[in-house]
Amino acid sequence: MKGVVLAGGLGKRLEPLTRITNKHLLPIYDQPMIYYPIRTLVDAGLTEILIVTGGAHAGEFLRLLGNGAEFGLKHLDYTYQRGEGGIAEALSLAEHFAAGQPLVVVLGDNIVEHSIRPYVERFAAQGQGARLLLKEVDDPWRFGVVKLSGEQIVRIEEKPTDPPSRYVVTGIYMYDATVFDIIRTLRPSGRGELEITDVNNTYIDRGQMRYDRLEGWWTDAGLPETLYRAATLVREQRVTAGEMALAHEAPKRQACV
Ligand code: G1P
Repeated sequence: MKGVVLAGGLGKRLEPLTRITNKHLLPIYDQPMIYYPIRTLVDAGLTEILIVTGGAHAGEFLRLLGNGAEFGLKHLDYTYQRGEGGIAEALSLAEHFAAGQPLVVVLGDNIVEHSIRPYVERFAAQGQGARLLLKEVDDPWRFGVVKLSGEQIVRIEEKPTDPPSRYVVTGIYMYDATVFDIIRTLRPSGRGELEITDVNNTYIDRGQMRYDRLEGWWTDAGLPETLYRAATLVREQRVTAGEMALAHEAPKRQACV
């Protein structure tokens, strides 16, 4: 299995922050945004990772990440998306890299609290098709929203004005290698992009879509408000981890005196 981080786009919803840099290079608390999805894949056990980026600042990713040594990687792959053709178009650029293997795809602005390893293992056991991670939210209209019938996903609606549920599709997708054949059949949506929701609906129609409910917090960071929220959540996590480490150290230090 291989990993893909989609870090293209123009980040227009974050103007003027994105006027002179790529959205995924902006800080989330103490690290650049792109660090988080890479860490998500590495923590899930993936060692072969492709970064899909674009725009005028693509070279900065190489300067920042190099071969991924900071993440314990020997090598990172990069590819370039011209223009803003959508998430599915960005993913189509990973076909050569995938070389027939299944993929875990993470949107570069999606940040999660816990490891996704258990879900990736379930996908590996699944053998074929696709797997999504769903989250219940208060503002479903901002996302791809699932329509459920019992425990079954019957449809995903992209940014609906009248959401069919509060369960949304997070930006972590697991696909078998047929995803590239599906992308070739897509036509641009109303906003002129190849939509990942159309890819997912094809798997649903084939009866090959599975899902998990994602544990822990999850946020995107593509709007001023969610960029701020992401930083707050990461900071809280760091503070808690620091306090736990200190509490763990304290008895040892007392034992020394
Ligand atoms: C994209 C997808 C949407 C998904 C979301 C997760 O939306 O189109 O289905 O729920 O990512 O972050 P976008 O961020 O492009 O608006």
